[in-house]
Amino acid sequence: MDIKAVILAAGRGTRMKSQTPKVLHEIFGKPLLGCVLESVSGLVSESFVIAGHQAGLVEEFTAGYDGVKTVIQSPQSGTADAVSKVCPLLDDYNGLVLVLCGDTPLITHETLAEFIEFHNKANSDLTVMSAVFENPAGYGRIVRENNQLKRIVEEKDASAQQKAIKEVNAGIYLFDWVKIKPAFSHLTANITADNAQKEYYLTDIIEWADGLNVNAYTLKNNEEIFGINSRAHLAQAAKIMNRLTLEKLMDNGVTIVDPDAVWVSPDTSIGEDTVIYPSTYIEGKNKIGKNCKIGPFAHLRGGVEIGDNVKIGNFVEVKKSKINSNTNAGHLSYIGDSEVGSGVNIGAGTITANYNAVTKTKSKTVLKNNVKIGSNSVLVAPVEIEEGANIGAGSVITKNIPAHALALTRSTLKVVENWVKS
Ligand code: UD1
Ligand code: MG
Repeated sequence: MDIKAVILAAGRGTRMKSQTPKVLHEIFGKPLLGCVLESVSGLVSESFVIAGHQAGLVEEFTAGYDGVKTVIQSPQSGTADAVSKVCPLLDDYNGLVLVLCGDTPLITHETLAEFIEFHNKANSDLTVMSAVFENPAGYGRIVRENNQLKRIVEEKDASAQQKAIKEVNAGIYLFDWVKIKPAFSHLTANITADNAQKEYYLTDIIEWADGLNVNAYTLKNNEEIFGINSRAHLAQAAKIMNRLTLEKLMDNGVTIVDPDAVWVSPDTSIGEDTVIYPSTYIEGKNKIGKNCKIGPFAHLRGGVEIGDNVKIGNFVEVKKSKINSNTNAGHLSYIGDSEVGSGVNIGAGTITANYNAVTKTKSKTVLKNNVKIGSNSVLVAPVEIEEGANIGAGSVITKNIPAHALALTRSTLKVVENWVKS
């Protein structure tokens, strides 16, 4: 059955104290909303992002994704009101609708796939994702009678007895749209907003669905529904994401010398026997080969592709570059917008000057196989150093250098004997 996603992202996010909408705050350079869109990618045919607060910026961001539409909710009068905004767009639709929040970036594709499978196997009309927390404070509680789901009670509306319930609403739902669609006119009628927050609650849908086949799927790893409401949460979520990424990498044969002191984005793949030394920061999308040594204190900024047996050492920053096998950049370098061959040695302090501050353009540096760059050289892009050429230390290279040549711009060394009077 066809599945469409509805991602709730209209809330204010007041506690972020920011000019940026909450869902556009980033982890490893990726907006929270981008994380959620990627988690549903491949599972749904289309996504609707419900935007309200700073909707223009949200719309600008989603424009970069295929099959994602932004739907405006104004004013923001609750989660049921938010979902109801897609009703006119899904009038004739008869598939499934997956509802999730734009501020829970840790939900995984695998879990959502399992959730959908659970729904289908149970022949469910409505499935809600639940989670069991030792301390459930803040979440809506799942109220069951004879084990059957009866309703969800928000913390603010819960009795002391209900507050003791440890099974909570994770905020992710799957609807058989034809059966559930009629709920929205009911849930957004005035009479239902008689709760503590004076909002139309999506959670009231459980009670509405009395008589339909309603089920709960229990989440295995509670971390996945960690929601972001503040800068502190943002930092915590990034830590969790990093830990899960490093665990996966270590399982796949990568040595992480100190997992508490390394950051690797989830979009980075790393080959076996590569060692990542402490204080290394790897963000964006990167591919690192086998048997490499990265760090300590290395910074990969995304769009980096590294072959096998490559060394990227202390204080080396690499951005949007391809570095082939058996190449070393051991110390104090910036390599940006570059294509580096194999067997290349990049001396300490080498800089690719890729940015022209006058024309405000970036250009490419190409180093062919077996090129050796002497320490403290500046390669002013666009520039190509052909195969096997050597650059003398301290040179500023402003034009292409032919194969096997030596190029250097150093002034002649002058030695004045007995200069220092004794
Ligand atoms: C909601 C659930 C709660 C659940 C929790 C899980 C309701 C009433 N409660 O509570 O049972 O345990 O999620 O995290 O649904 N939003 C809109 N428009 C609105 C209001 C909210 O788009 O008018 C968006 C928010 O931006 C956010 C999401 O919906 O992404 C959830 O809203 P929020 O107010 O944070 O709900 P919770 O109080 O967390
Ligand atoms: Mg709320």
